[in-house]
Amino acid sequence: MANKTKRLLGKRDIKRGVKKLAQELNNDYRDRSPILVCILKGAVVFLADLIRELNFPLRIDFISVSSYGDSSRTSGVVKIIKDISIDIEGENVLLVEDIVDTGLTLSYIFDFLKRKNPRSLKICALLEKRVKRTKKIKIDYRGFTVPNKYVIGYGLDFSEKYRNLPEIITMEF
Ligand code: IMP
Repeated sequence: MANKTKRLLGKRDIKRGVKKLAQELNNDYRDRSPILVCILKGAVVFLADLIRELNFPLRIDFISVSSYGDSSRTSGVVKIIKDISIDIEGENVLLVEDIVDTGLTLSYIFDFLKRKNPRSLKICALLEKRVKRTKKIKIDYRGFTVPNKYVIGYGLDFSEKYRNLPEIITMEF
């Protein structure tokens, strides 16, 4: 890795954060059989760990969007490239996201899913960057608030690489 990096969250920190979120969800979704919609690709690792801590019936689905811009910045133009396959009308839906930066991606997906008339639609994000949101969105379940730096690992990429790193690392350009 040519860029300067620093560990932000180690394996144990992440595990603790995921367990804390799972506890909240185990309380709130006990009798609600939700559909967890994972935003590809970054949230895959988080989803995989999270669902194994959940003790209620659930289903999972995936949605994928492309956002035009360079590899470290969202441009604001979002396009759905893979829609969910389960009908969510009248269902309790929980959107699972890796990181919220400007909020543009999530707010686009939120509005897109809202139009499918779910009974409830909430957001669970592992990381939230300490930045001024371009789009106001309510993150119902948040793992960690992180500094406004580019992070990689635990599903998060830089140019499609580093998703397999078990820790969350800041990358300086
Ligand atoms: P937003 O639309 O600006 O909130 O950006 C959200 C999306 O951009 C996330 O789903 C990530 O895929 C990506 N992203 C934002 N910040 C980072 C980062 O620091 N590391 C890796 N991906 C990021």
